[in-house]
Amino acid sequence: MNLKYILAIESSCDDCAVAILDTRGKILSDQIYSQIELYSQFGGIVPEIASRLHLEKIAFLIKKTINDSNIKLSEINLVAVTDQPGLIGSLLIGVQFAKGFSQGLQIPLIKINHIEGHLFAGYGELDFPTTAFIGLIASGGHSSIYYCNSNDEIELLGQTRDDAAGEALDKIGRLLGFNYPAGIEIDRCAQFGNPYRFHFPIAFKSEDSLEFSFSGLKTAAKDMIEQNRTRFNNQDIADFCASLQFIISKTLFTKARLACEKYNTKTLVIGGGVAANSRLRLDVKQLTEMGFSVYIPPKLQCTDNASMIGRAAIRRLSKSKI
Ligand code: KG4
Ligand code: ZN
Repeated sequence: MNLKYILAIESSCDDCAVAILDTRGKILSDQIYSQIELYSQFGGIVPEIASRLHLEKIAFLIKKTINDSNIKLSEINLVAVTDQPGLIGSLLIGVQFAKGFSQGLQIPLIKINHIEGHLFAGYGELDFPTTAFIGLIASGGHSSIYYCNSNDEIELLGQTRDDAAGEALDKIGRLLGFNYPAGIEIDRCAQFGNPYRFHFPIAFKSEDSLEFSFSGLKTAAKDMIEQNRTRFNNQDIADFCASLQFIISKTLFTKARLACEKYNTKTLVIGGGVAANSRLRLDVKQLTEMGFSVYIPPKLQCTDNASMIGRAAIRRLSKSKI
């Protein structure tokens, strides 16, 4: 296909995101309408509101993204859209718009899995691996480890049995009185805290398994908060947040490292909203000092965005895996 520009749409959850990319994955415009402020009053996403807001904003956002990228509508010759997993009503808005675009302009449509988008958010960047790698995705909905082999086949190696890492952070943060999503606020608060003060359990610590479980951590955190609620001062909360993200980061990168050992590779890709976490990004540096090659996207490309969907589509095209 003689590709010029791609219109990418991501509406699987609470962010309505649209991007225009060129064939090499260069981002010309990347727009997000975030619904986050609205949900702080509810403590989480309300699916019905999310889909209605997507419907309200998406047409304007697509128009703005195309205008900002300084290309003509007729120069877009591919549409990429997230089709799963996610909130069904929200997904439908993005997919229907993408279908309309594809039919109206008589151009192909590629449906992309959201996790595949996170995994290939950096595809085309100079430091993105071109050989086999282990992929760690940690977000609000997923915590999973993949092996992407040199034939570009993706194999799921392990995932969480219960809560995702981001989900645990959001739920614990809510108990601390933080707004949804709490991951970023926990990260901010942790900057002033002692990561070694509070001790949290790590599931499957000594096991050979590549699975995660964060519900035990969530219960332990809930008990500590309930026991200390009246005594916790600002420093205590900072120490609590630092200890919490320390243990989550340790859990994630220990399992990612184990997967690398098992699959005999030192190349690792990390993605998803939790990959924006400062502690995780710091811990990952230890791996690079140990000879690992780690690709972790810039913070804004870790959380949900549309350019990752466009890049995953470019990868599929380059491998002719449509
Ligand atoms: O990938 P994402 O934007 O959406 C899903 O696919 O779920 O990830 C959102 C998750 C939320 O749980 C949020 O609290 C978490 O990523 N998150 C963070 C940070 N920024 C976002 N967690 C820890 N530290 C951060 N800086
Ligand atoms: Zn995501």
